[in-house]
Amino acid sequence: MRGFILGVIVTLIVLFAVALAIADLGFLPTSADATPPAFETRMASSALDASMNRHAPRVNNPVPVNDESLIDGAKIYTMNCAVCHGTMDYKPSALEHSMYPPPPQLLLDPLDDPEWHIFYAVRTGVRYTGMPSWSKALSNDDMWQVTAFLSHLDKLPPAVQTYWKNAYGVAPRSGEEHHEHGAHEHGD
Ligand code: HEC
Repeated sequence: MRGFILGVIVTLIVLFAVALAIADLGFLPTSADATPPAFETRMASSALDASMNRHAPRVNNPVPVNDESLIDGAKIYTMNCAVCHGTMDYKPSALEHSMYPPPPQLLLDPLDDPEWHIFYAVRTGVRYTGMPSWSKALSNDDMWQVTAFLSHLDKLPPAVQTYWKNAYGVAPRSGEEHHEHGAHEHGD
């Protein structure tokens, strides 16, 4: 038994040393404009979902959702998120293929996650990706407003749709049209 345990320990140490050597010798790729292989995307997104399900509190939006707060959410999105997640005129972000993993295009492919899930992603960010934690840059209310905006994309009240059209020159799309942009699958 002693010999077996020693064998396991030595094997682990050797594996760890090999992994370190591979990294130290510069074999690991660092470019951000590569496309992650499908198995990596699948593994990473199920690990992310599992971690969020374990850690994220099931909280409800404390900010009332109305025309004014949804418009505020759209403004917060434009100023802080559109550069990575796509602009209000439905153009994919210019940085769409410049990050590893790539940022999901949240207007072209709206999320169908519950609000507590979106809010947690915004508040805490996603480690080892370009997604920042916004808790030090935005107030709690701002983070809820942008969360509500993202989860109401297919059911925006008329006043918000009018604001969108006037401010960004393009009418917001209905739920149906959202699914046209097939290339931007997001993983759940
Ligand atoms: C610098 C680029 C960048 C900015 C700015 C940015 N994000 Fe992200 N975001 C990302 C990336 C990259 C991911 C994908 C992370 C991953 O693959 O797990 C992401 C993921 C997300 C997700 C999770 C999507 C999912 O599938 O669960 C949400 C929600 C999100 N971002 C919302 C926002 C909001 C809201 C803002 C603005 C307040 C914002 N992001 C600003 C890069 C960015």
